[in-house]
Amino acid sequence: MGNKKNSDEDLQKLLDITTDLSTSLDVDSILYKINTSASSLVFAEESSILLFDDEKLYLYFKAASGEKAPILQKTLVTDGIAWLVAQTGEPMIIPDTNSDARFSGTVDSMTGFKTKSILCVPIVLEGEVIGVLEAINRIENSTFTEVDLKLFSTLATQIAIVIKNARIIEDQQNFVINAVEIFVKAIESIGIIMGIMSSGHCWRVAEIATTIGQNLEISGKDFDDLYYGAALHDIGILEQQKNEYVQLEFSYNDNYDAWGNVKSHPVIGANMVENIALLSGAAPIIRHHHENYDGTGYPDGLKGDEIPLSARIVAVAEMYENALLNSQPVGAREIAKREVEKSANTILDPLLVNIFLTAL
Ligand SMILES: [Fe+2]
Ligand SMILES: [Fe+2]
Repeated sequence: MGNKKNSDEDLQKLLDITTDLSTSLDVDSILYKINTSASSLVFAEESSILLFDDEKLYLYFKAASGEKAPILQKTLVTDGIAWLVAQTGEPMIIPDTNSDARFSGTVDSMTGFKTKSILCVPIVLEGEVIGVLEAINRIENSTFTEVDLKLFSTLATQIAIVIKNARIIEDQQNFVINAVEIFVKAIESIGIIMGIMSSGHCWRVAEIATTIGQNLEISGKDFDDLYYGAALHDIGILEQQKNEYVQLEFSYNDNYDAWGNVKSHPVIGANMVENIALLSGAAPIIRHHHENYDGTGYPDGLKGDEIPLSARIVAVAEMYENALLNSQPVGAREIAKREVEKSANTILDPLLVNIFLTAL
């Protein structure tokens, strides 16, 4: 009965850890939580997660519990039990470090900690050992058991999944960042040919927009959407170029706005990104970046707060950029700022204009 009770408690602890995992997306905080729970799961004084560097030359402490953690975070491991487990992929229980020649004591000599017993299991990702999960000193000088080893192995599998997911997310983010750079190059090449933007236009709009965003304390996903929405606000001109012949000299008729922008590009652009999961949050910003605060803009004639906040922010940045392009080099920045100021309440949100004028 006692064993049944213990295994129920172990299971509950493991479930608690797994529940914790689903509440956070940040890999460092997830691993920190797993590691903190790991020591209590096997009744150990301390525990740590060690991972290989890219070349597998050493192990470093990805997460460590206890007061020695700050020292461990700067410590690289190339010998001892953790190193052996990482090299062989075989889990180990060391009941007494004093009588085991494989124990190196290198880390103890750096931290002043006294390691008496060790439980160490490999963290395996897609058949490859990427690190180890280690527990030090079972409390009350008892010995780590085979049950502890099984629990730790289960936890090591969870850690591998967390790291795998983090790498997938990293790869996706890397792809999006590079894809956005390629898109921006293409937009600017077309924009320059059309005579509606100068080189670096998209990045400057993104920079100004995110500066305003920071002043408004926009953060997380909303901040990413603002950044991508601002960088890609004119992406519609790529498709536009395919759909119709765009002349170098613009006639300012119904199809073009006062700056010579083809009026359909916000809708085309929003449609282009809305099915890309990581960029879909930028779609409303792209669609509405030419709406005017007084409702006279396009494509939907939205007014005031009906226009998404980030689209209103991009409009301020866009206005400044376009005014800069159309001003003489001498005093261009001041002239462009006055242009933005004049447009408060009509084209632009007055609150955002104020923030822009103070921030820039
Ligand atoms: Fe633009
Ligand atoms: Fe535009």
